[in-house]
Amino acid sequence: MSEELLYAGKAKSVYRSDSPGELIVVFRDDITAFDGGRKDVLSRKGEYNARVSAHLFELLEEAGVPTHFLRLEGPARMRVRRLAMVPLEVIVRNRAAGSLVRNYPFESGEPLDPPLIVIDHKDDARHDPMVNDEIILALGLLGRAELDAMKALALRVNGVLLELFGACGLDLVDFKVEFGRDEWGRLRLGDEVSMDSMRLWSRETGESLDKDVYRLGTGDVLGAYARVAERLGLEM
Ligand SMILES: Nc1ncnc2c1ncn2[C@@H]1O[C@H](COP(=O)(O)OP(=O)(O)O)[C@@H](O)[C@H]1O
Ligand SMILES: [Mg+2]
Repeated sequence: MSEELLYAGKAKSVYRSDSPGELIVVFRDDITAFDGGRKDVLSRKGEYNARVSAHLFELLEEAGVPTHFLRLEGPARMRVRRLAMVPLEVIVRNRAAGSLVRNYPFESGEPLDPPLIVIDHKDDARHDPMVNDEIILALGLLGRAELDAMKALALRVNGVLLELFGACGLDLVDFKVEFGRDEWGRLRLGDEVSMDSMRLWSRETGESLDKDVYRLGTGDVLGAYARVAERLGLEM
């Protein structure tokens, strides 16, 4: 099988598949932080993120959120619908953490109710600047109705994930998602929903079980990822 590499990002590689409307996403073991300033390879990280993402995409579909997910075709290999990605990172925050605490006078862990939606423009050369509705509309990235629909979808994802992780003793602090348009122009959740793209705090101990373990350099990153998979009942 000769699959053409279409795009190699920071953590995943996207290949053309045998079907024009479908792509293969390979979750690599590369991990990066601080705008690519730190890079490492963590054996099996790709598998954990692919497995957890697949599980969450399935649950989200069942809950009525359209996603790009079709199936896993190997431990770190996912078949997805090809989307025209909207170059935005939609961040939903249930508690203050990370850049929100660095840039604004919020206290770390402070509950945000209603949840806050923050949107960054995916533009590596400009370091993914935060945008507002007016900038998104002026750039022509989405129309008003689509932008509202995208935010509503992000909040629905939040509702599903909050309930799921809550039942596993995990506090969903925040997460980042990306959307794209399918062949009919319908918005679908794309990319990944994994420990690389969320903050999860253990309810019992308060410790991070996500990429912050890597960012802070505080311990066993893969062990933390494995604990999330285990809490979700996934056998690896
Ligand atoms: N269903 C899809 N169709 C087309 N592109 C996708 C789809 N899902 C994710 N992508 C894109 O594939 C890339 C995944 O690789 P990643 O390592 O996350 O890249 P990046 O460093 O750009 O974030 C991202 O650019 C993402 O927007
Ligand atoms: Mg990415």
